[in-house]
Amino acid sequence: MNISPLNFHATPSLKDARSPDSPYPHLLAPLDLGFTTLRNRVLMGSMHTGLEDLPNRYEAMAAFFGARAKGGVGLIVTGGFPINEVAMDVGNSGDELLNSEAVAEKHKAITSAVHASGGKICAQLLHMGRYAKHKNLVAPSAIKAPINPSTPRALEDDEIFRPSLTMHSAPRWPGSPATTALRSWARKAI
Ligand SMILES: Cc1cc2nc3c(=O)[nH]c(=O)nc-3n(C[C@H](O)[C@H](O)[C@H](O)COP(=O)(O)O)c2cc1C
Repeated sequence: MNISPLNFHATPSLKDARSPDSPYPHLLAPLDLGFTTLRNRVLMGSMHTGLEDLPNRYEAMAAFFGARAKGGVGLIVTGGFPINEVAMDVGNSGDELLNSEAVAEKHKAITSAVHASGGKICAQLLHMGRYAKHKNLVAPSAIKAPINPSTPRALEDDEIFRPSLTMHSAPRWPGSPATTALRSWARKAI
């Protein structure tokens, strides 16, 4: 099958992916990641949907992501959840900060809905850095992003481990690979 990237009509369906001459013979095969196994290699990319800002955000996101899992996606990556005030995109957005075990607990409504349909989901922990649109933006260097009129303040080395400014304010999910990866990343960032 000749597939041009611009010819969406030629994109094979999941049904095609099951045929022996599929150009994507592994698409629907399980993927063992070592710490977990995905039922297939279909990944839903990270998108902030606006549901994050609703008063009933967890119920709404559980329904939204649960429906995608029911449709068969192997792995969902959520839209970014800011982990502290300076990490936020816009200072006064309605997002709830993902910065405590109590908030992490609320996210279980989402993971449960996805797991109930055999899917896996990964929370994206967001720090907007120099792309933030509020006035207290911070970044590794005081270099303005080409698409942002504001220049960030450069973080001092010791601030990397100050919970109010960095990824260290993210909740700990003990033993989770993401937590381990995050800690290891934070250590190397110094
Ligand atoms: C409405 C919208 C919200 C998005 N939110 C996020 C986000 O929260 N985190 C992220 O990493 N990428 C986000 N993205 C980027 C997408 O994950 C994706 O990388 C981007 O849309 C490029 O893919 P596309 O060309 O198929 O749109 C968003 C994109 C859109 C259109």
